[in-house]
Amino acid sequence: ESTKVIRQNANIPSRASSVSGIGAVVEKPDYSEAKIVVAMVGLPARGKSYLSNKLMRYLRWLEYNVEVFNVGQLRRSKARAAAQSGGDKADHTAVFFNHSNEEGNKARTQLASESLEALIAWLKAEGNVGIMDATNSTFERRALIKNRLAREPKLQLLFVESLCNDPAVIATNIALKVQSGDPDYANMSREEAERDFRWRIEEYERVYQSINEPDVSFCRILNVGSQVTINRIEGYLQSRIAFYLMNLHLKPRSIYLSRHGESMYNVDGKIGGDSDLSERGWEYARALPDLVKKNIGDLPLEVWTSTLQRTIQTGSFLPFEKKTWKSLDELDAGVCDGMTYEEIEAMYPEDYEARDDDKFNYRYRGGESYRDVVVRLEPVIMELERQENILIIAHQAILRCLYAYFLALPQEELPYIKANPQIPLHTLIKITPMAYGCHEERYPLPIAAVDTHRPKPNSGHRKNSIPSGGSSVMGHGSDNLEAISRATANTARDYYGDLSSHPMTNQGSASKLGELTTSPKHGS
Ligand code: F6P
Ligand code: PEP
Repeated sequence: ESTKVIRQNANIPSRASSVSGIGAVVEKPDYSEAKIVVAMVGLPARGKSYLSNKLMRYLRWLEYNVEVFNVGQLRRSKARAAAQSGGDKADHTAVFFNHSNEEGNKARTQLASESLEALIAWLKAEGNVGIMDATNSTFERRALIKNRLAREPKLQLLFVESLCNDPAVIATNIALKVQSGDPDYANMSREEAERDFRWRIEEYERVYQSINEPDVSFCRILNVGSQVTINRIEGYLQSRIAFYLMNLHLKPRSIYLSRHGESMYNVDGKIGGDSDLSERGWEYARALPDLVKKNIGDLPLEVWTSTLQRTIQTGSFLPFEKKTWKSLDELDAGVCDGMTYEEIEAMYPEDYEARDDDKFNYRYRGGESYRDVVVRLEPVIMELERQENILIIAHQAILRCLYAYFLALPQEELPYIKANPQIPLHTLIKITPMAYGCHEERYPLPIAAVDTHRPKPNSGHRKNSIPSGGSSVMGHGSDNLEAISRATANTARDYYGDLSSHPMTNQGSASKLGELTTSPKHGS
């Protein structure tokens, strides 16, 4: 009789050593074998860049090395360079995209190949997932990609097609393209630009071939969130990508984040534990329903808490459906649970220093690292993507990880969150997904609380960086509240113009995303 041995996929970080009793810096899992070309497929204005960016942010949060290679951007930068060196100004109006335009076809094929070559070179050198953001809208173009990758045995190929027949979504995407100062339409009025872009879409529609090649791996997505067809998905990372894409939707909604009210342990400067709220913590819990109600109005909302008393107590007055998640429990500090930072420094000086040196990777003796927390939060992220309005009441480290996912913060910043204030007590953070990244608003309640944030110490000044627990009280006056919400709202308005919906968009821009993610700084 044969025995089936189920082996853990090498890509799944193991938590086994978290109970080994040794506090240590645990390096990231080895993803060097994971190498996938994700080639987008779709008409213009069908959200290919939206999906590319979203997928990139998710996989980067899980520590894969991901880049988007946008063929339109390559075309524009080449045209710019040619114009600067005295060449003719390229005509990239709809005429260029007409499939009977031989010269245009040749140029576009050449650009696609060049972009793909850059992607392949990067993937072979260091990348895990290279996303080719182009229309790839004919069998012929996809055959070109497929045949090129047949020569690269170590690289997998996955096509992701975005089909969309919702006129409202398409119209929003078109508006976003022509309003965003897109270089393709630099010298045109908005009306002219829209006319040309719609014409360009028609040119593509004439020859468009939806993906149904039986021998390739693909995910075909209809109206993000309504239907997904998958074909020949191979291996762990491909299934993970497919599963993520299956869970996305575009309905407008917000995610609210709040730490629990101040706890007795917070007052004493102790970490971890399962203590009750302090008097001021209860005050926050009683004030929260009003703040949430004012914000959400009559829209449905679900509240998620951890299994720890301080989050359950904080949510106890909220008149909404509640769920408790073990995955939302605070980072497990192992043997240090229940200690103050000073006590940890005195008892485990090496650990204390190791954590300061590399906080994301440091795993407490018998406890967890930030990486372990990210891994256990992944199902929460997946469920969050599926849901609509959710309020999460959780803990400092947990909310840093969730916040970093939505705001696409780099890993080294995650355990600190430089935004000022960071993830403070007695503050409701509202995150609204938009075309590129998220819009953030903060609502601090004027109820004093201790400051539990311990900034990254400069070497030689470690001692000074211990939060002073009960003696350091952050008061949130109402002036403060005004300042913070106004500043972040302004930044978001500057960036999004008057677009308040949740569009899919065909216009990738990592730099704009970067701009937005730094917006909380303006609130200080
Ligand atoms: O101090 C509050 C707290 O939630 C602790 O329970 C937890 O150990 C800590 O914050 C996490 O923050 P840091 O990773 O900065 O120590
Ligand atoms: C583009 O040039 O903007 C573009 C997306 O190219 P293609 O349709 O050739 O993929």
